[in-house]
Amino acid sequence: MTASDREAALLEAVRAQPVPEHVAIIMDGNGRWATGRGLPRIAGHREGVKAARGIVRAADALGLRFLTLYAFSTENWSRPLDEVSMLMNLLERSVHAELPEFMARNARLRVLGQTRRVPLGVRRGIDHVVHETRNNTGLTVLMAFNYGGRDELLDAFRALARQVQAGELKPEDITEKDVSGALYTADVPDPDLLIRTSGEMRISNFLLWQIAYTELLVTPVLWPDFGASDLYQAVAEFQKRTRRFGRV
Ligand code: IPE
Ligand code: IPE
Ligand code: MG
Repeated sequence: MTASDREAALLEAVRAQPVPEHVAIIMDGNGRWATGRGLPRIAGHREGVKAARGIVRAADALGLRFLTLYAFSTENWSRPLDEVSMLMNLLERSVHAELPEFMARNARLRVLGQTRRVPLGVRRGIDHVVHETRNNTGLTVLMAFNYGGRDELLDAFRALARQVQAGELKPEDITEKDVSGALYTADVPDPDLLIRTSGEMRISNFLLWQIAYTELLVTPVLWPDFGASDLYQAVAEFQKRTRRFGRV
């Protein structure tokens, strides 16, 4: 059996059981992948983009409804200026290059985060793809870009506070649904599975409200090495878990 035969067999086995609706991924380890090879960190980010492309395809092959990819956090602005600006350019170019494939797959791109704070050119490039794919009905890819879980909650609290101030909502009437609906992920079901690559056991300000009952999976694989069969294996592991939601 070749590697691609094994991958196809794994996909078939995973698809034979219910797959999660929404998988979220903290794509970590690009820098370590590059420095381990004596390359500059940006080379790792370039490989990371290739990995992301492969994972979008794999998510589509699995029949996921939502795939959330953490691409740039509010804390990542604290990195050296050249890494930040190269990352911005890379993200813009890569997202733009994906448009034909998104259209061919009937996939939709949405962005989670405060895009109004990113450089104008980058924002325009990404907004274009979001706009062009808005009516597509297949896989939705949510790119967390200039995303911070606490920023998202603050934005939601402010929106709800404004409704209270306007007399449209009473504080005691605020429900979980109201909070969920005020987040960047309004209308998106909470992730069933959260994967973090490169072995770090932390959340790094990602989807703080939404992951209340998400299954967590940390893999030592560095993001540029994370391929379709790694995603299929993660979903197979998820399928073996029992989600109890506090019950017995
Ligand atoms: C993840 O890889 C990509 C971004 C955060 C943009 P890192 O750049 O964090 O890679 P490591 O953690 O330094 O290896
Ligand atoms: C989380 O990775 C953010 C993204 C993957 C975009 P980081 O590499 O920034 O997280 P920390 O700094 O290790 O917590
Ligand atoms: Mg990292």
